[in-house]
Amino acid sequence: MNVVENVEEVRRLIGRARSAGMSVGLVPTMGGLHEGHLSLMDAAKAACEFVVVSIFVNPTQFAPGEDFERYPRMPEADTAACKQRGADMVFMPGAATMYPGGAVTTVSVGRLGEGLCGRSRPAHFAGVCTVVAKLLNIVQPDKAFFGAKDFQQAVIVSRMASELNMPVEIVRCPTVREADGLAVSTRNAYLSVAHRKQAVSLHGSLELAAKLIRQGGPPSAEVAGAVREYLLCNAPDGEIDYIEIVEPQELAGVETTAAPVLVAVAVKFGATRLIDNVLVDAPVAGN
Ligand code: PAJ
Repeated sequence: MNVVENVEEVRRLIGRARSAGMSVGLVPTMGGLHEGHLSLMDAAKAACEFVVVSIFVNPTQFAPGEDFERYPRMPEADTAACKQRGADMVFMPGAATMYPGGAVTTVSVGRLGEGLCGRSRPAHFAGVCTVVAKLLNIVQPDKAFFGAKDFQQAVIVSRMASELNMPVEIVRCPTVREADGLAVSTRNAYLSVAHRKQAVSLHGSLELAAKLIRQGGPPSAEVAGAVREYLLCNAPDGEIDYIEIVEPQELAGVETTAAPVLVAVAVKFGATRLIDNVLVDAPVAGN
């Protein structure tokens, strides 16, 4: 496995894999690798012959005061994990490689980036799309793999790729969870013991929402109210950022839950903001 820091070397090695007739998969990450990231590598390995993992803590998707400075950086452990999981290349650029200075071009994603996480992080998805567009242009993979844990991100990246005619398939992979249901996340490491216990209620509240919807598709407001109650009871230290019920393509709010919906929540424990979501089909007929 090669660990590469510059764009020319990435292109050279990918060119070599292409000449050997290999398909290429990309797993973009910010490092601090955990089972969620590793599951994307597994999906990439199953679908592509040459797997590239990028590791770059992208400054443009963090707002001032967010956790950019304290975000975990552990290059040795991360590269070891990639190697162990069978990646063929780790692309680990420095900030000067990705943002040489003087750049004026960004990717904007309009209304899809305004709701859900975009409300409290207004510049976040422009930063994500700009760096993902750059990574896709550098690696030029056949497929790129994203987690459903960051559902809005996966939807936005798919739309960007399709609307900017990028020749790549964006693959959305299921959320990996801890044994108690908490979605695995780099940021879980920031939680105190007490907050870690309460954090499981994000998943609990979404399971409740899914149950209510499957039982008969009540109005969204009713489901959101039940989710709020659940969180207030089970995560007393959590500050609810949002509880949203949206349709899963345009991410626009819906009043009923009769068709497939995404239920998404964000809750802050101190300075640590956790997100989770569940995609729920229409209610079971006859119920
Ligand atoms: P990062 O938070 O490192 O996540 C990298 C990828 O791992 C994302 O596609 C994310 O959805 C996925 N992921 C995280 N936790 C997961 C889990 N529990 N189960 C399944 N997949 C999970 O998301 C980013 O980095 C950045 O925004 C990035 C796309 C790399 C652009 O900078």
